[in-house]
Amino acid sequence: MRSTFSSLLLLAFAVSAKAAAVPTSVHSAIASVAEPDSARRSDFTSFAADTVTTLSAEELEDFAPYTQFARAAYCPSSKLTNWDCGEACEANSGFQPTLTGGDGNAVQLYFVGYWPEENSVVVSHEGTDPTQFLSLLTDANLAQENLNTSLFPGVDDSVWVHSGFADQQALTGPIVLAETKRLIAAKGATTVTLVGHSLGGALAEMDAVYMTLNLPSNIHVKAVTYGTPRVGNAAWASFFDATVPDFVRVNNEKDLIPIVPGRGLGYAHPHGEVHIVSPGDAVACSPDDDATDSACTIATVPNIAVGNILNHLGPYEGIMIGTIFCT
Ligand SMILES: *[C@@H]1O[C@H](CO)[C@@H](O)[C@H](O)[C@H]1NC(C)=O
Repeated sequence: MRSTFSSLLLLAFAVSAKAAAVPTSVHSAIASVAEPDSARRSDFTSFAADTVTTLSAEELEDFAPYTQFARAAYCPSSKLTNWDCGEACEANSGFQPTLTGGDGNAVQLYFVGYWPEENSVVVSHEGTDPTQFLSLLTDANLAQENLNTSLFPGVDDSVWVHSGFADQQALTGPIVLAETKRLIAAKGATTVTLVGHSLGGALAEMDAVYMTLNLPSNIHVKAVTYGTPRVGNAAWASFFDATVPDFVRVNNEKDLIPIVPGRGLGYAHPHGEVHIVSPGDAVACSPDDDATDSACTIATVPNIAVGNILNHLGPYEGIMIGTIFCT
């Protein structure tokens, strides 16, 4: 499975190149949205509503710093070390990276650091090529496995996740956990924030549970992911819901990655979907990953044929995410 993931990044982004034509005006709009704002202390727990609710413009803007962190994970480690990766880094200019790693091949790129504005450690994982990712997740021979209880102590053996995600999470989990603990001690951080897009979103989802189980209970764990596929089964989703209340997974328009692997294979999403129906128009969805919420992803994209893989890359409220958007 690791070698399968390794191959994902080898292709050039032919697909994403088409989506590169983001108007300059959008970029300047992003810059103004991302201005440091001391009033921004978001807890997204409230988005786990029982009914579909429309987000206000202000609520949508609150995602921008997280979106930029997810975007930055696609940048080379050489640019992240000095937090000099262009717009994505400038948007969170006070961030202090302390660890970068991965090779973008066998191990997805990642970074860890301290975000003074939220007194939070941030861990961000890179995603992967969407078309390759899609074919991997629609493969009829998907492998799944129980969580390793050395890493996830106390998890019930009814819980299983996609083996590729479990393998990737195990490669970096202990490293990012050690750095997170070091930063909590050194900076007095009280929150740990996990972010990621695509495969990186799946890793952030797993890391959120992993961190909660391995950090002191007074540390608040939060996760914000983008275009995340289903990670595991319904038992995983329930366990996640109970373990990580402060969670949002943002899906864009007709992105089809969030509908794979299919529910028919036993996969289920946790709570926390925010669906961007169109730019500026987003809803928070009820937590049950069923098709009853007409504005939410699986009703909008009932099958792969009606999806649009370009929507996987954004725009997430004006912000594109992918290898070619590290500018
Ligand atoms: C579980 O994780 C531990 C700690 O990383 C590792 O030593 C062990 O080999 C893993 N077990 C399996 C079955 O992968």
